[in-house]
Amino acid sequence: MNIAIIGTGYVGLVSGTCFAEMGNQVTCVDIDEDKVDMLRSGKLPIYEPDLEHYFARNRKEERLSFTTDYEDAVLDAEVIFLALPTPPGEDGSADLSYVLQAAGTIADLLVEQDDPGYRIIVNKSTVPVGTADRVSETMADRGLTTGEHYDVVSNPEFLREGAAVDDFMKPDRVVIGTSSEKAANKMTRLYEPFVRQGNPILVVDERSAEMIKYTANSILATRISFMNEIANLCERVGADVDKVRLGISKDHRIGRHFLYAGIGFGGSCFPKDVQALHRTGRQHGYDFQILDSVLSVNDQQRELMVHRLDEYFDGDLEGKKIAMWGLAFKPNTDDVREAPSHVIIEGLLERGAEVTAFDPEAIETTKVNFGDSISYAEDMYAPLENADALVICTEWHEFRRPDLARVHDTLGTPVVFDGRNLYDPSRMAEMGFEYFSIGRPH
Ligand code: UGA
Repeated sequence: MNIAIIGTGYVGLVSGTCFAEMGNQVTCVDIDEDKVDMLRSGKLPIYEPDLEHYFARNRKEERLSFTTDYEDAVLDAEVIFLALPTPPGEDGSADLSYVLQAAGTIADLLVEQDDPGYRIIVNKSTVPVGTADRVSETMADRGLTTGEHYDVVSNPEFLREGAAVDDFMKPDRVVIGTSSEKAANKMTRLYEPFVRQGNPILVVDERSAEMIKYTANSILATRISFMNEIANLCERVGADVDKVRLGISKDHRIGRHFLYAGIGFGGSCFPKDVQALHRTGRQHGYDFQILDSVLSVNDQQRELMVHRLDEYFDGDLEGKKIAMWGLAFKPNTDDVREAPSHVIIEGLLERGAEVTAFDPEAIETTKVNFGDSISYAEDMYAPLENADALVICTEWHEFRRPDLARVHDTLGTPVVFDGRNLYDPSRMAEMGFEYFSIGRPH
């Protein structure tokens, strides 16, 4: 199939590369000339496992190309994906101007043709309920007819950073939101090679597809906030949240994923999408109370470590040297958007502490926010020198099995605040650490 992808951000690049890998002819468009030059020269602006390999192969096979010109991509395309940013606007609601502008540009190009033909316009970005209709109106306003010249499909993505290529190539499910049978059939053919393991392609209406995306992210975020509250209660009643988690996860109705207590969720999706769904409720006269709590529990959890440290040092963090392991919002990414580590750094700096941090990937991205107000270390043991405490914010593999004797001897005082429950509390006590984790006795 001939495919155009508008927007070469994270979702656009992963989707375009994976569609090309399945033998489709893909042209990606971006208005950013530097980025297109970079991609044309064979360089990727993001890191994602396996992406480079597929990207290089499909460029070589000439199935994947890049342009700044809509015309090059759109006129031959049977399916056009919109993978554009929808940043929060001034009132916090998703700004759809990039999406609607792109739809307008495509429509303008098509009406100029003697025969505009028929194309499917696919919303791949996470967009508020009703956006497919707005895209459709934008096309219709330019004189095109739905069903004859175009159909709009909502096709949300469920990619996780750090596992995006795998998630795209082997999705648990594909959601196709459309009321057009013609569009549904074509989209089903496009996705069939990706679901050979028997996972379903679900065809639903546009609004249900848009709701599925927000519901999935919100229910996952709700599980995390719920388990964080269970952890807080476990601490008070003398129970261990990890044992509670194991006990409940054997119930197949609950399952074992997304039940890890910690210092809260971050990233560019969960906080934004939970907020957006809450706002959608308000716009329709519905107060979605649980979502409010999910967010406030998460804010509280991201600040938990600051309060613990403050309490431990009797309210005097002034001049205390704090070592930090992990800055990224989760492992295998350099993404620090909404990262709990950043909330903790802010709290520590406000109280006059000195922070030295190590992260395998996220130092440069952290510098953008904190510059030289904190120090950065090149290896994981360096920040421990004479530090008054170590705080762990991200569960990178290398933090799971460190040389604990070395950690103990390098720290000025052997105190560890572990936001990711990486170590066994009794072993830490035996080794002479003061060890504080989340929802477990110490
Ligand atoms: C999330 C969803 O998992 C994807 O399915 C979705 O496509 C994506 O958002 C999106 O909307 O684009 P992502 O933001 O990459 O993906 O991150 P996750 O792996 O879901 O982790 C989110 C946060 O939850 C992290 O801060 C992580 O530390 C935290 N988390 C996760 C917990 O605190 N406990 C858990 O048990 C699991």
